[in-house]
Amino acid sequence: MDQREKWQSSFGFVLAAAGSAVGLGNLWGFAYRSSQGGGLAFLLLYVLVVLIVCLPVLVGEMVLGRSTASSPFIAPVKAAGDSWKPLGWLFAIASCGILSFYAVIMGWTADTFFHSLFIGLPIDMNQAGDFFEKISSGKSVFIGQILSLALTALVVAGGVRGGIERLTRWCMPLLFALLLILAIWASTLSGAWDGYTSFLFRWEPSQLLDKTTIRNAFTQAFFSLSLGIGIMVAYSSYLSKNNKLPKEALTVASFDTAVGLLAGMITFPIVMSFGLKDAVGASTIGSLFIALPTGFANLGVFGRLLAALFFGLAFIAAITSSISLLEVPVSSLMEQFGWRRHKAVWMATLIVFVIGIPSAISLDFLGSMDSIFNVLLILGGLLISILLGWVVPRKYDEDLAGCNSNQRVRRYLKFMLRWVSPPVIAFGLIISIIDLI
Ligand code: PHE
Repeated sequence: MDQREKWQSSFGFVLAAAGSAVGLGNLWGFAYRSSQGGGLAFLLLYVLVVLIVCLPVLVGEMVLGRSTASSPFIAPVKAAGDSWKPLGWLFAIASCGILSFYAVIMGWTADTFFHSLFIGLPIDMNQAGDFFEKISSGKSVFIGQILSLALTALVVAGGVRGGIERLTRWCMPLLFALLLILAIWASTLSGAWDGYTSFLFRWEPSQLLDKTTIRNAFTQAFFSLSLGIGIMVAYSSYLSKNNKLPKEALTVASFDTAVGLLAGMITFPIVMSFGLKDAVGASTIGSLFIALPTGFANLGVFGRLLAALFFGLAFIAAITSSISLLEVPVSSLMEQFGWRRHKAVWMATLIVFVIGIPSAISLDFLGSMDSIFNVLLILGGLLISILLGWVVPRKYDEDLAGCNSNQRVRRYLKFMLRWVSPPVIAFGLIISIIDLI
């Protein structure tokens, strides 16, 4: 077998992992979930779930990848035997399923980008509805979906260093800079303060106990961190022994949360200052594509340029995530069948395209895929915490000791992984299922 690829640098790995985490989930998911009524309670729960529950699991996923140096499909079996095979399947199915509808939304994003530059954007709510209808149905959806998948496949075919690391290295800094510029601009809008306070910072303590708010916090945390789906297993399997995983996991989680907040600080002022609250309040998955283009279009040519900037940026963020999703089936096919990277890439892409057809045709289907697969991520997270916290806890210790990470940090993570993450994630999973049904 070929020698396993390696990241060129630790920073390259961190950027790629952050690239996976930061995506449409931050720009689109965060906006639509926080507008579903949770306000500050949602934000608080979400940040707590990330820092207290997800962080030890994120490190766990990384340990699983690095210590087995295997693809997500094989890693659980290598770590703990054949009875863990279903977890490998869960990773493979969840990543293909998510990518299948993610590529459709990427297509809408690309289409909105082209409309901003070349065709024009809706200027009132009536036109906005038609606009969303246009980008989310018919031929253009398929063009967008195929284009997005093809670009994703091209990068992944380039390999870990030549494709994934190279792309994320210049995309991530660019993305962050653009987001900052847009957030500063948005803060100067007349409705900015109203926007922050009526969505992000509205405090209603009763929301802390609301089932939908709790489900949103959990799904946002797992989806946004790309957690529970084997991506960090795949990426970490190309790591060397001396990366300090806890520190890197914290960097990824902080960056991801910061981008989510920044994105909220862009979208909500726009929504408020252009009177688009109802468009978002309808809380459909289309809200970002209905409200934002309309808001931008109200600023004339300058607005169209800003829209191009925003949706261009969203597309870049999305592609650094979609490549990580595709890497899961690709690395698994390569390892399971000894295929070359190119063959695995095209095969996996084809499968994902076919699974994505119903999502491209029906918005309702896409919405259901989003809800169902988000729950699978939480389940994946639960299984990882059980696997590394209880079944093979020594792996966690040994791997983290091997990279010389701080002993106090290690003890803390281990404690959380065993005693806090499993029950809390199980609670989140049950509430989410109840709320969904
Ligand atoms: N984290 C990505 C985002 O926020 C989406 C994603 C989910 C990517 C799950 C990989 C796995 O857009």
